[in-house]
Amino acid sequence: MTDRAELGSRALFELLETDVYVNHASLSPPSRPVRDAVAATLGGYASQGMAWYVKEVERRERLRDRLARLIGAPQGSVGLVANTSAGIIDIALGLPWQRGERVLLFDGEFPTNVTPWQQAARRHDLELVWMSADDFRTEREAALARLEAELVRGIRLVAVSAVQFTSGQRMPLEAMGELCRAHGAELFVDAIQAVGIVPLDVAAMGIDYLACGSHKWLMAPEGVGFLYVAPARADALEPYMAGWLSHEDAFAFLTRAPGELRYDRPFRTGALMAEAGTPNTIGAAGLDASLDLIEQIGVAAILEHVQAWHDALEPALVERGFESARMDTPSGRSGILSVRPEDPSQSPAWVQALAARGVACASPDGWIRFSPHWPNALDETPRVLSAIDAILADGGPSQE
Ligand SMILES: Cc1ncc(COP(=O)(O)O)c(C=O)c1O
Repeated sequence: MTDRAELGSRALFELLETDVYVNHASLSPPSRPVRDAVAATLGGYASQGMAWYVKEVERRERLRDRLARLIGAPQGSVGLVANTSAGIIDIALGLPWQRGERVLLFDGEFPTNVTPWQQAARRHDLELVWMSADDFRTEREAALARLEAELVRGIRLVAVSAVQFTSGQRMPLEAMGELCRAHGAELFVDAIQAVGIVPLDVAAMGIDYLACGSHKWLMAPEGVGFLYVAPARADALEPYMAGWLSHEDAFAFLTRAPGELRYDRPFRTGALMAEAGTPNTIGAAGLDASLDLIEQIGVAAILEHVQAWHDALEPALVERGFESARMDTPSGRSGILSVRPEDPSQSPAWVQALAARGVACASPDGWIRFSPHWPNALDETPRVLSAIDAILADGGPSQE
């Protein structure tokens, strides 16, 4: 029988001990179908060894297409990689840079989307240009105008996260993509805080490259992610990230008659070139099973449900003196609801005090971040508020 995912139901998460788990922006606990799929893959290898590998090769083909559909990408443009970093490093290393080219980064981003570009800058003598990510939340139109001014001065590539990990701001990707296209820049997107919770369409948004891990909103195990390269960009990538599986017909020398062991086979292009060595089949099995559940409900319905969860909590937090980072416009909202106390240095203590009362959330860079997903029930929010009121009644978290 297929397991059914139901909005607001934790029936498939029977091992989860926390009363209110709202930390999917950090890591999702695996559901029963994900655990079963991982166990089945291990069981297949345990009973059949190498003979099982064929099944996993077929699964990878299906999985790539499935992920491509989820982000509006054409078949063949998505490759499976270990994590977001791996995908970003592949592009930062693989672009044919010219000395002095300018790369636009955003202050406030998760370091995954900064370090590889800094490394590329050191290696190729590139110039890094910085804008504040938070300006797009607090003064979006002015920030877009400043972005355009930088593009006019000449930018080779803009690297941005689809959703900011601190504030939960959904970046204006469509507008950014349009500006990039108009000024001849390429657009790279770190999508780990977006895929599985907010709709993304790489074609409509003019995204050239996208990297994403799966242990957050895709609710899969760690160590499996994917990379998208727009078909029009695929041929230009240098094969610096290539390994033995990056070649076409990579298995020929293992399965055919002698004479096939060669080192000059052409490389697969684009994201497929990034699949360089033996893959994480266990993680892929988990991701496949998790996608079954997400697809049953649909990303748009999940986002609506999560917004209702945020709606129920946010005004009460503001009433209690917390500052909310939530944007007024729905298109700027994501799975993350972040608030902070008057003194943001208290946020980690708040998160610890909430954990002691059965609420799992996080405190990235001074924000208290609530990140519910499809299994979170709307009746959890009164329990979060009771925990907060109890902490306030004790004189605040630092008094605990
Ligand atoms: C925006 C963002 N990018 C990337 C990551 C993680 O990168 P990786 O998948 O390489 O560990 C995180 C969180 O861990 C994140 O919030």
